Amino acid sequence: MNDIILGIESSCDDTSAAVIKDGVLLSNVIASQDVHRAFGGVVPELASRAHELNIVPVVSEALSRAGVAASDLTAIAFTRGPGLLGSLLVGTSFAKAMGLALDIPVVMVNHLQGHILANFIRQPDKPVREPSFPYLCLLVSGGNSQIVRVDDPLHFEILGQTIDDAVGEAFDKCSKMMGLGYPGGPVIDKLAAQGDPSRFNFAKPHIPGLDYSFSGIKTSLLYFVRDEMAKNPMFMEENKADICASFQKALIDILLDKLVKAAKLTGIKEITIGGGVSANSGLRNRIESEGKKRGWNTYLPEFKFTTDNAAMIAIAGYFHYQAGERAPLNIAPVSRMADF
Ligand code: KG4
Repeated sequence: MNDIILGIESSCDDTSAAVIKDGVLLSNVIASQDVHRAFGGVVPELASRAHELNIVPVVSEALSRAGVAASDLTAIAFTRGPGLLGSLLVGTSFAKAMGLALDIPVVMVNHLQGHILANFIRQPDKPVREPSFPYLCLLVSGGNSQIVRVDDPLHFEILGQTIDDAVGEAFDKCSKMMGLGYPGGPVIDKLAAQGDPSRFNFAKPHIPGLDYSFSGIKTSLLYFVRDEMAKNPMFMEENKADICASFQKALIDILLDKLVKAAKLTGIKEITIGGGVSANSGLRNRIESEGKKRGWNTYLPEFKFTTDNAAMIAIAGYFHYQAGERAPLNIAPVSRMADF
């Protein structure tokens, strides 16, 4: 066969390129952008400029680590969206220009599909363990919180999603407001491991069906901390591990409540997670324990494939390429899922 696919990801603040050969990962290079740290969140204009600087060295490095020449490539897969338009434009334009120069096809990939297929990234010398179809994916990141039913690598259906903030946003915004740093997920995850999750209670949302809401719990945490700080200025400092543990547990309870419901409604017991928040140790443990209790087969992506990376774009692109899909050279990126 020898289908060699270059994947390019530039939807947010990571510039990434990866090479896969017949579905097996040969390289995955990620340049993260530190420039946003000082602002406590991603600044879109700075992100696109950093992508412009990074894209050539990152692609060159991915090819060189894979031991592959540009002329060996079969096709180039790129993230078309959803994401930041300026950032997406860099990866999309680069992929099209490179495809044109090499006279090889380009294939567009939906970023979310990359996350939900992350468990299919095969690696040399590692055992293969992949979910069978159909499966459910709890897709949790800085921009999305969704339960997705995946029928095959090219077809998926969103069963439920957030009606306001994403769960990653709840982690990030609360961490910022509590003065704990950015990005908030990893900081809260670490502090939560040392705290008592049953110490504080936060009101949970009552949203019908399989949809989520995270803005209420975010606000309730922020008011709670503000009121306690008014009584005791040391409250945050003295209790931050317990606050983080209780807050994280509440978020995980909300996520699992709907996931369990979705599994019951569909009868599907193949369960995966994906997206940046799937790196959360509390969530990973809970998925495993819930899976044991309910007879699910659970699949957790390796940490390096939880956050944005081009390996997942390359594997999704590989499936699209094999299905005969090709993107026209006038294709433009899209910022919203609804535009796909
Ligand atoms: O998928 P991703 O890299 O990209 C965006 O959607 O932008 O996800 C980033 C999100 C951030 O909200 C970050 O705080 C969260 O993933 N995250 C975590 C952890 N690591 C990253 N959230 C909870 N626990 C973690 N260990």
